[in-house]
Amino acid sequence: MVVHGDNLAVLKNLPDESFQLIYIDPPFNTGKVQRRQSIKTVRTEGGSRVGYKGHTYETIKGDVYGYNDSFEDYWEFLEPRLIQAWRLLKPSGTLYLHLDYREVHYAKVVLDALFGRECFLNELIWAYDYGAKSKKKWPAKHDNILVYVKDPENYYFNSEAVDREPYMAPGLVTEEKALAGKLPTDVWWHTIVSPSGKEKTGYATQKPLGILRRILQASSAEGDWVLDFFGGSGTTGYAAAQLDRKFLLIDQNPEAVKVMRKRLRGIDGLDVDFKKSRAKAPTTPRVEGAAKAS
Ligand SMILES: C[S@@+](CC[C@H](N)C(=O)[O-])C[C@H]1O[C@@H](n2cnc3c(N)ncnc32)[C@H](O)[C@@H]1O
Repeated sequence: MVVHGDNLAVLKNLPDESFQLIYIDPPFNTGKVQRRQSIKTVRTEGGSRVGYKGHTYETIKGDVYGYNDSFEDYWEFLEPRLIQAWRLLKPSGTLYLHLDYREVHYAKVVLDALFGRECFLNELIWAYDYGAKSKKKWPAKHDNILVYVKDPENYYFNSEAVDREPYMAPGLVTEEKALAGKLPTDVWWHTIVSPSGKEKTGYATQKPLGILRRILQASSAEGDWVLDFFGGSGTTGYAAAQLDRKFLLIDQNPEAVKVMRKRLRGIDGLDVDFKKSRAKAPTTPRVEGAAKAS
């Protein structure tokens, strides 16, 4: 299913523990694309919860906000959505939060407080090598994906199901091992979506299918429900359909829904329900111009 609307409004109406896997790739906090609104209004919208999960959540959040002013806007937007993500995850479920190097450190601190530090599973580095390179610093050519599980004692992770990759030095392992390939580590070298390739939808922030396939293979099984509430071009839904998972994608941008419609309807035998959400968007700051943001 694809829902056109503000994700927070939609998420609030979904039942607890409905999804095995949640992947989100929110617009990045570039500082260029946000509209500031009164923090007072925001706080009454149920964004923060004192003592949530028994952690000193408010304090940690306050410290992080105090450190970086632009961060406050961004997290006033993202935080209530992350709280919903936690609620919507099955007990064996996993959250993948895709960010960049400018946000990830704050996100780690906030998610440690929200989920619990013991629920942090990995920080994945997606490394690529494309585009202009700065000569004034090390060119930044990676994204960060934080992985949190709801229950560190009982979460689903199937490394056997993950597509293996070639060894960097196949001569150092047996022929049998070299043929089988190796299990990917937490650093994933993967090309960006090629500007002229078949995978390209034209949606500016489209992420590679290979990245999503790997995530879904490891942290969900056939038939499971997968949620992506910053759906964009529908990469998560496309990977889910290919791997026989069920999916719910949400996006507020009509252009995204148009792209998803075209992309998902191209999959043989896939029956996708497109809905428009009537739920009113809450008055949290909204990140606009997402296509430019990441
Ligand atoms: C970085 S893009 C996601 C790209 C996606 N991973 C892909 O592979 O195409 C972020 C998306 O979030 C959407 N978005 C931003 N704020 C939203 C909100 N409040 N509710 C629903 N969607 C939102 C934007 O329209 C944009 O399509």
